[in-house]
Amino acid sequence: ASYNLFLLPGDGIGPEVMTEVEKVANFLDQSGVARFEMDRGLVGGCAYDAHGQSISEADMEKAQAADAVLFGAVGGPKWDAVPYDVRPEAGLLRLRKDLALYANLRPAMCYPALADASSLKREIVENLDIMIVRELTGGVYFGEPKQIIDLGNGQKRGIDTQVYDTYEIERIGRVAFELARKRNNKVTSSEKRNVMKSGVLWNEVITALHKREYADVQLEHQLADSLGMQLVRWPKQFDVIVTDNLFGDMLSDIASMLTGSLGMLPSASLGDVDPKTKKRKALYEPVHGSAPDIAGQGLANPIAMIASFAMCLRYSFGLGEPADMIEKAIANVLDAGLRTADIKGSLPSHISTTQMGDAILAE
Ligand code: NAI
Ligand code: MG
Repeated sequence: ASYNLFLLPGDGIGPEVMTEVEKVANFLDQSGVARFEMDRGLVGGCAYDAHGQSISEADMEKAQAADAVLFGAVGGPKWDAVPYDVRPEAGLLRLRKDLALYANLRPAMCYPALADASSLKREIVENLDIMIVRELTGGVYFGEPKQIIDLGNGQKRGIDTQVYDTYEIERIGRVAFELARKRNNKVTSSEKRNVMKSGVLWNEVITALHKREYADVQLEHQLADSLGMQLVRWPKQFDVIVTDNLFGDMLSDIASMLTGSLGMLPSASLGDVDPKTKKRKALYEPVHGSAPDIAGQGLANPIAMIASFAMCLRYSFGLGEPADMIEKAIANVLDAGLRTADIKGSLPSHISTTQMGDAILAE
């Protein structure tokens, strides 16, 4: 099969880590695993410098047409003073909005070699592999009314509104169940139905969807506060966790600390399946930013970006085996003691971005 990848390396360390992914994609292409056609565009500060926009219309069209978008990172002090609507982050927000990327996937994986960098005990996190699916375009961050009212007497009232409609819960539920089928076939759905009406609806919709279309997947429900506790107590009990925008924001940040460095964490944002092409809109990016403090020095850890590409292979293209191979290569390189500076810990030396990419490729 042949896949069209649109690369948006962005600013700072974005281009440095993207170069390492291109090597991996070229290798898979040359070994006949799949054909990858790669095109590059500009996003963020570099796009602003080139044409005064955080992403051009032409690049937006390419993103819409691609089988998957690989995104590096945007931003940096150079663009602190540019107008708000063309600031670097606006490019990423535009992509999320126009591609309608409502499902944010944040895996929490722990490579054994880095288990001691976690804030938890080794046996709790070693070989951890869970996936948090966060609803990204609805809920209390967007619901109306959203305002501060002056009540007089020096009193004000801040209001945010949690709103979820059936279709929003169903589509995020579908993403979670389908992911579970490609993983360990278990979904934990989380809300607070004991105190929130939107939680009652969430629970009902997920339960009905499960019964109707995904009865082969194991489903359990857990209140979000209790799930937070379980995530820290024994995270390996989970496979896929699906939850709303607010709870997902907090739970995915908690989960990220189970696994150590920012330079290790991949993510994906998924939208709907296009009725014409039957393909799901998807953007894959590392969790980290453009790291201007280390940009241009060969210090960036490319693992988060390479692991994001592995997610792309698994979830957009159904190429589970090459994805496993990449993750295994990362684990082996770490086992061999190779480290970029950010994950060096107490080891005496570190290798560069390029050397890490080459080592993973060699594995
Ligand atoms: P950051 O993630 O860029 O950096 C935080 C710290 O982690 C820095 O010390 C950095 O050197 C280190 N770090 C990050 N990724 C690393 C990697 N792959 N290898 C080694 N070390 C790494 O976050 P920060 O400093 O808050 O933001 C810097 C810029 O990035 C800002 O302009 C911010 O707006 C932007 N940003 C962009 C994001 C995106 O494009 N999705 C996400 C977060 C921040
Ligand atoms: Mg957050």
